[in-house]
Amino acid sequence: MNSQNAGYKETWNALAATAESAYAHVAGYSDEQRLKASAETTVAGLRQTIGVHPTDTFLEIGCGVGRVGRELAPLVAHWIGCDVSENMLQHAQHRLQGVANVSLTPISGYDLRPIPDRSVDAVYCTVVFMHLQEWDRYAYVCEAFRILKPGGRFFCDNANLASDEGWNLFLASAAFPPSNRPQHLSRCSTVPEIDCFLRRAGFQEVQTKTTGVWVFGWGVKPTQT
Ligand SMILES: C[S@@+](CC[C@H](N)C(=O)[O-])C[C@H]1O[C@@H](n2cnc3c(N)ncnc32)[C@H](O)[C@@H]1O
Repeated sequence: MNSQNAGYKETWNALAATAESAYAHVAGYSDEQRLKASAETTVAGLRQTIGVHPTDTFLEIGCGVGRVGRELAPLVAHWIGCDVSENMLQHAQHRLQGVANVSLTPISGYDLRPIPDRSVDAVYCTVVFMHLQEWDRYAYVCEAFRILKPGGRFFCDNANLASDEGWNLFLASAAFPPSNRPQHLSRCSTVPEIDCFLRRAGFQEVQTKTTGVWVFGWGVKPTQT
């Protein structure tokens, strides 16, 4: 690992080496009822922000074991799960067996190169930005813009540094000695960061919202691009 390579693939393949470890790092539990309930909350958030329509092709950046995909896929035309970890995608494939309209795509950890320009209606990235360096967060916002059809919608979230819960997360990460920081330590965002990344990438109708530990951001790709 060097300053250009944050080691996402090595880190997350190791964390997903077994199903038990994969679920522990995605959600902290593997109980299907709890996964379903938390995914329904995420889908409700997508409905309220970028909308969920039966004709949509949705893409998730950092899909993990398909926690959200399993609940979202039946509501849309096609769900594409992308993840840096091939091991994580194997667990997702196992979990999503029998769901017809899903595809799983491994990615480099820095871009969405396998996905063509202007090919999807909506992109979201949830519980992933806290594991990325800020340059890589912005790179994914730009990549989402590239692969969205004109008028397409983007949603992302992260822990909010300015919230009490986010500050506690910051202190918990800061407590690790520099020589002993795990690669996947949580790193918070702020409302101005999320707002700036979406606007700089070209999104319009950009909105942000905070609740509890979270900051959410969403926007629309202009129709004239
Ligand atoms: C905490 S899990 C969240 C999974 C899923 N989004 C969810 O909410 O259930 C973080 C996921 O991000 C993936 N990930 C980490 N770094 C990544 C990167 N640079 N690019 C794409 N995915 C990444 C991990 O492999 C893991 O599946």
